[in-house]
Amino acid sequence: MRFALNESLIFIVSLFLFQSSNGSDLISKNCKEASNRDPGIMYDFCVACLEEASSKLHPPPTNLEDLLGILITISKNNATNVLSIISKLSKDKSLDKFALLTLQECSRLYDQSVFFLDQIAGTLKSKVFDYVGMDLSGIGTFARVCNEDLSSKWRGGISPLSKEYQIFDQLIWISHVFFEIITKT
Ligand SMILES: *[C@@H]1O[C@H](CO)[C@@H](O)[C@H](O)[C@H]1NC(C)=O
Repeated sequence: MRFALNESLIFIVSLFLFQSSNGSDLISKNCKEASNRDPGIMYDFCVACLEEASSKLHPPPTNLEDLLGILITISKNNATNVLSIISKLSKDKSLDKFALLTLQECSRLYDQSVFFLDQIAGTLKSKVFDYVGMDLSGIGTFARVCNEDLSSKWRGGISPLSKEYQIFDQLIWISHVFFEIITKT
């Protein structure tokens, strides 16, 4: 009887170790908490992008700080991709002056976001979180301003970066809520 109990205990413990070692539990638990805290957060998106990114990581993420770090890296890659889309769009000779100026403004804003995201990545390593919340709010505002201005200046009234904006906004939003959970704010 006693032997059986020990064995099942070992089984449960190893199950737990196995589950936490692939990061899946960590991801779904924290995405769930974030979407409970803030209904704007899409649970499925949160899980999908973190699982995809962490499946390529060795060692896998072991805590919420790791997940935030992953999101910051994904966001930076996203912003960099947006910059190259902007530069392609800017080459269109048929653009009117206002659309072109707005694209240039967006380029500046996303550039600034990349700078902030680099800064946040450094900050996370040193575990001093002083400006992370403010920087994330700033980045969210930059992306929104770009999307609104582009929508108003683009023919047809729909920003050519709407889809990218929605993804980027969600990444930054999740990062912000993770940050709040970490710092208990
Ligand atoms: C941004 O990141 C998301 C999630 O990883 C990815 O699905 C999407 O393709 C990326 N978009 C750009 C423009 O990089």
